[in-house]
Amino acid sequence: APSDPDLVERARAAKAKLGDKVFVLGHHYQRDEVIEFADVTGDSFKLARDAAARPDAEYIVFCGVHFMAESADILTTADQQVVLPDLAAGCSMADMATAEQVAECWDVLTEAGVAGVTVPVSYMNSSADIKAFTGKHGGTICTSSNAERALNWAFEQGEKVLFLPDQHLGRNTAVRDMGMSLDDCVLYNPHKPNGGLTAEELRGAKMILWRGHCSVHGRFSLDSVNDVRERIPGVNVLVHPECRHEVVAAADYVGSTEYIIKTLEAAPAGSKWAIGTELNLVRRLANRFAGEGKEIVFLDKTVCFCSTMNRIDLPHLVWALESLADGKVVNRIEVDPEVAAFSKLALERMLALP
Ligand code: 13P
Ligand code: SF4
Repeated sequence: APSDPDLVERARAAKAKLGDKVFVLGHHYQRDEVIEFADVTGDSFKLARDAAARPDAEYIVFCGVHFMAESADILTTADQQVVLPDLAAGCSMADMATAEQVAECWDVLTEAGVAGVTVPVSYMNSSADIKAFTGKHGGTICTSSNAERALNWAFEQGEKVLFLPDQHLGRNTAVRDMGMSLDDCVLYNPHKPNGGLTAEELRGAKMILWRGHCSVHGRFSLDSVNDVRERIPGVNVLVHPECRHEVVAAADYVGSTEYIIKTLEAAPAGSKWAIGTELNLVRRLANRFAGEGKEIVFLDKTVCFCSTMNRIDLPHLVWALESLADGKVVNRIEVDPEVAAFSKLALERMLALP
C-alpha cells in the first residue's frame, strides 16, 4: 500500500529541518516506506562501517534492529546519539545467547581443558554483552559477508572456534566455504548441562556451534528448493547463509543481503531467481528488476517478514525524526562504557580483517 502522504510530508520536513545533523541508516530488510528516507542502505557490515564514517552527524537514526543500533553506538563517538525508532525491534537470534549462558559455556570449555585454545567468533547478530565477551577472550565479530575471513583469522589464533549465536552461519561457512566436515562441528545447547556435550566431544571438535538460529531463515527447507526447481526450470537459487545447512548445500549461490543485491544487479536479462531471505528485500528486488526482464520469486511463499525488522514503520520514523527536530532525543541506545570498550575491541578486529 502507498504510504500516508501526510506522514511522508512530515518525515521530509523533519529531515529537512535537521539537515546534516541527522544520518539515517536503513538495513535491507526494512519496509519500503522507511528505506525511502534512508541516507544509506546496507547489510549489517556496511551499515556498521557507514555509521562510523559520519562523525559529524549528531544523531544516527538506525532503521534496523537493536543489536545494529548498539554496534553503531559502540563505533561512533561519545557525543553522537544513536536512536532506534522502536525499542521493541529486537532480534530473536540475538536473544538466544545471554551473557550468563555464554559465561557458563566458557566454564564448561575451561573444565574440558579447551578454553585456552578456543577463539570466540560472534556473529554481528548478538547483544553488546556477547560482543564484549568476545573481545575480552581474544575473539572477533563477523557478519555474513566476512565470516570466512573471520574464521581463517581465528584459526590462526587458536585451534578451535566457539561460534555464537547462529549455528547455521557457523556450520555453513565451515563446511561449504572452508571444506571442514560436519563431524568437525559440535552443537552446544545452552539449555542442557555442559551444553549436552562430553569433554571428549569438545576436545575433538574444531567448531563449537552455539545452538541459535534465525526464526525467519530457519523456515526455508530443502523442499522449498526442490519445489521451486520443479516449478521454474533453469531457476537460480540464491539464499542467505542463515538458512539451514541442507538448504545452503542445495542452493546455487549463498551470501549476505548486499551480496544478494549485487548478484541480481549483475544477472543477465531473462535469468530466473528464487531468493531465500527476508520478504521486504525480495519484494523490492522483484519490483526493481521486473522491468529488466529478470524474474525474481520468493523461495517459499509460506515464509514471512522478519516481524521485528518490520516494527520500524513510517509512523515510528516520523515520531523519532520530529522529536529530534524539536531537540528531544527519544529511544536512545546507549551501551554501558565498559561493555562498549570490550565490544569495540572485537568489532575493530572485524573491521581490520584482510
Ligand atoms: P546481513 O545484512 O549482514 O546479510 O544480515 C542479515 C540479517 O539477518 C540481519 O538481521
Ligand atoms: Fe534477527 Fe532473523 Fe530478523 Fe535478522 S531476519 S533480525 S537474524 S530474526
